[in-house]
Order: sequence, then structure tokens, then C-alpha cells
Amino acid sequence: MSESVNVAIVYYSSTGTVHALARAAVEGAEKAGAQVRLRKVAETAPEAAVNSREEWAQHLRDTADVPLASLDDLDWADVVLFGAPTRFGNPASQLRAFIETTGPLWGQGKLEGKVYSAFTSSGTKHGGQEATLLALANTFYHWGGIIVPPGYTDPVMNQLGNPYGVSHVAGEGAPGEVPLQAARHQARRAVEVAAALKAGRSS
Ligand SMILES: Cc1cc2nc3c(=O)[nH]c(=O)nc-3n(C[C@H](O)[C@H](O)[C@H](O)COP(=O)(O)O)c2cc1C
Repeated sequence: MSESVNVAIVYYSSTGTVHALARAAVEGAEKAGAQVRLRKVAETAPEAAVNSREEWAQHLRDTADVPLASLDDLDWADVVLFGAPTRFGNPASQLRAFIETTGPLWGQGKLEGKVYSAFTSSGTKHGGQEATLLALANTFYHWGGIIVPPGYTDPVMNQLGNPYGVSHVAGEGAPGEVPLQAARHQARRAVEVAAALKAGRSS
């Protein structure tokens, strides 16, 4: 059903948490039959800041082979999933910086009508995950996007407990099976909705 759905998973991660969720989303989308592009956004922090934390510098090295997101990736996609860590209750500025390059596509109406969804991580349990996800949704409204949250549409979402989008508390360690399974579900659901939309539009 989903062979013709293109999914761009565009993320930022300093220390690997959001990257792990993004990888799980890739698995979910591919299993649903989609073509998937995993794309990171550029690191904008000064080298000194990156090097001040070994796990940050290490993650940057470990993901050197992940292609950088481009406007073409958004243009190509039927589904766009954004992932970013929570920074003072907002998406990390690295992802925002990429989003703020999309004016030309937006101006041509090329961001309209796509399926959008988002995921995040935070250091602490009440550290602003929903705020980050809702902040990303503000952009989806401006783009005329079709926001497809995971809600509680699978039992794993009840275990995760965040219907706005998949999220993980990084301070409790790397994402385990519940958030990873939830990320697979979120991506699969986005693909299924996009496939139904495509089928409806072409009929
Ligand atoms: C500048 C900065 C601001 C942050 N703000 C928050 C915050 O508001 N709430 C929170 O729980 N964690 C906060 N954190 C922790 C990050 O959300 C956490 O390190 C991140 O989710 C880990 O994801 P990553 O491994 O993909 O980089 C902040 C971290 C930094 C560096």
C-alpha cells in the first residue's frame, strides 16, 4: 500500500538520543513500505562548545556519514518527521536554523499538504517535551501541513505516555524498547496516512 510514500526524517542530536529515535523511525517507515531519507541538520555550535563534551564530539564523529538535510529532501517528501532535543523548552536551534532556510519552498506552496510529525528528548521528565513538540507544530500550521501525532493509537503509546509525539527522558539513559517501538509506530502511522491521502488525491 505504501510503496510510493517518500519520508524525510530530519533531525538534530548532540549526544545520540534523538538520533536513536530517528533510526527507529527509519525502521518503522521502511517496514511500512516507504522510501526513506535520514538527514541530520548542520551543527552550528562552536567547535569549542562541541569539544567541551566528549560525548557530543564523539556523536558528531559517529554520524559523519549521515547526509545533511536539504530543501530537496523536503520537496521530495510526502511525510516529514522532525526530531530535536528540548532546549529550554524549545526545539534545538540547529533544527530551527534549518527550518528557517525553507522560505523559498514555502513561498512556492511546496510544503503544503504533506504529513508532518515530530519527536524529541529532554534531560528531565517534566523538562518541556510537549512544549518542544507544540513549538514544531506551530511551523507545520504555517506550512499548511497535515499534522499526524501518534496519539494513543497503539498500546505502546500508552506505555510511552506522550500523545503529542515520541519523546524520551535522556537523563534516564539511552532510549529503550518502549520509545524505540513508539518511534517505529509514529513513523508507520504517518506513512499510512500519507498513503491514504495520496490514494485519495489520485482517485
Ligand atoms: C542548552 C541546553 C538546554 C537544555 N534545555 C533543557 C530543557 O529545557 N529541559 C530538559 O529537560 N532538558 C534540557 N536539556 C537537556 C537536553 O534536552 C538533552 O541533553 C537532550 O534531550 C539529549 O538529546 P541528544 O542526546 O539527542 O542530544 C538542555 C540541554 C542543553 C545543552
